[in-house]
Amino acid sequence: MKFAVSRFNPDTDSKPHMQTFEVAVERGMMLRDALLEIQRQDESFAFRHSCGEGVCGSDGMNVNGTNRLACITAVSDLKEPVEVRPFPGRPIIRDLVVDMSQFYQQYKAVEPWLVREDPMPEQEILQSPADRDKLDGLYECILCGCCSTACPSFWWNPDKFHGPQALLTAWRFLADSRDQATEHRLNELEGPYKLFRCHTIMNCVEVCPKGLNPTQAIGHIKHLMLRQGV
Ligand code: FES
Repeated sequence: MKFAVSRFNPDTDSKPHMQTFEVAVERGMMLRDALLEIQRQDESFAFRHSCGEGVCGSDGMNVNGTNRLACITAVSDLKEPVEVRPFPGRPIIRDLVVDMSQFYQQYKAVEPWLVREDPMPEQEILQSPADRDKLDGLYECILCGCCSTACPSFWWNPDKFHGPQALLTAWRFLADSRDQATEHRLNELEGPYKLFRCHTIMNCVEVCPKGLNPTQAIGHIKHLMLRQGV
């Protein structure tokens, strides 16, 4: 099966180009396996991966035009030639490896930790099972970045719009009964860009390998803002 992969060596190339490899596909082969085979054919080919189980989130890439995790993408589901490119809109370090610094800065900007005003209890902060259930569909994000780099609002304003991943995380803490920084969190998201650049295009929902729904989370934040009069 033919695989066209994007190559870019910052030392020798002025821009990326595609290179085609032939890989003998075996039953049950995942795209990550095919990329490892390509790496055996050409040791200079670079891509990130680690767990191989859809957990670490390190092998996000653009496959036939859609952002996906290579390790949980079955080669048999892909149309030939399989075109593999780095995430769109991120600076390329080498081949499929992109610089994710901005993505992590946006994540950090929403303060992804519990904030308490009350003194910390001796043991854990209690939470009812019903309140805990509200976090389902929010905490499972693996920070792969498939969503943010599939979002046109991110492409247009990568430095101003927080992007779907960071906003999903913002809602994860706003929805947490143990968090006491609601007003601060909402104030921080105010303005035309950080939150309100989302135009409900929903690419993020389509590509999330964990089946999460950042668009819905963004909607919840907007409603909470209205309710609180922020
Ligand atoms: Fe860890 Fe794919 S290698 S998510």
